[in-house]
Amino acid sequence: MLIAQISDLHIQQGGKDSELIQAAPHLAACIRALNRLAPRPDLVVVTGDLTEHGQKEEYLLLKPILEQLDIPFVLIPGNHDSPATLREVFHDHDYLQSPSPFIQYAIDTWPLRIVGLDTTVPMRSEGALCAQRLSWLADTLAQAPDTPTVVLMHHPPFETGIKLMDELGLLTGRDAFADIIAPYRNIERILCGHLHRTMLCRVGPTVASTCPGTAHQIALDLDPAAQALHFNFEPPGYQLHWQGAQGLVTHHVAIGDFSGPYPF
Ligand SMILES: [Fe+2]
Ligand SMILES: [Fe+2]
Repeated sequence: MLIAQISDLHIQQGGKDSELIQAAPHLAACIRALNRLAPRPDLVVVTGDLTEHGQKEEYLLLKPILEQLDIPFVLIPGNHDSPATLREVFHDHDYLQSPSPFIQYAIDTWPLRIVGLDTTVPMRSEGALCAQRLSWLADTLAQAPDTPTVVLMHHPPFETGIKLMDELGLLTGRDAFADIIAPYRNIERILCGHLHRTMLCRVGPTVASTCPGTAHQIALDLDPAAQALHFNFEPPGYQLHWQGAQGLVTHHVAIGDFSGPYPF
């Protein structure tokens, strides 16, 4: 199985930084790049911050752009999203629909089981996994302990070293999450967003990773005394997670027009 991951689309209509960031054209360029891939991915996972403000108009702008994908895609919310509005606009995405206030799901369609977790807190930037969500995760993982599984969550379950993002990280439930996944050797990867750059960290029996943004990146700043957070326009990117004999292999891919390829 081949999974493409994109993240932090931040689609908005006008407003602060919209002209500078150009989220919609960047997403369209990303989708063109994904559609050109051969072999074609089986699935695109979109790991949150789909819109900037969680407004219905933003989801209505986002949906036709995402539907340009020639590949099935699944969504999870990020801190910039409104789970209720996301559900409303993407009403044709059955896995998003449930009576729960949280968007959590398991999809067993592909060789890799896809488990989506909702780390969002209404009107807050930081993430949380409350008892209700953790209990759902424990039950869901127990249903298929031998099936290779990928967990999607917007806020990564690890500190990144970018201090001001860590203050907006998964502040509640991280230890309990680690305890729940500890027995499961079948979790191939925990795929996250929120950080707008690629990072990897061992978490219990698996590896958690974050993905570049499709438009703007968060500036690399490991200064523990950093006073301000910045974004920049390092090349946007996506990740390809290829299932080989030893497990999932992750390729970082920059989006853009670069010279080459040249034969060796
Ligand atoms: Fe984001
Ligand atoms: Fe985020």
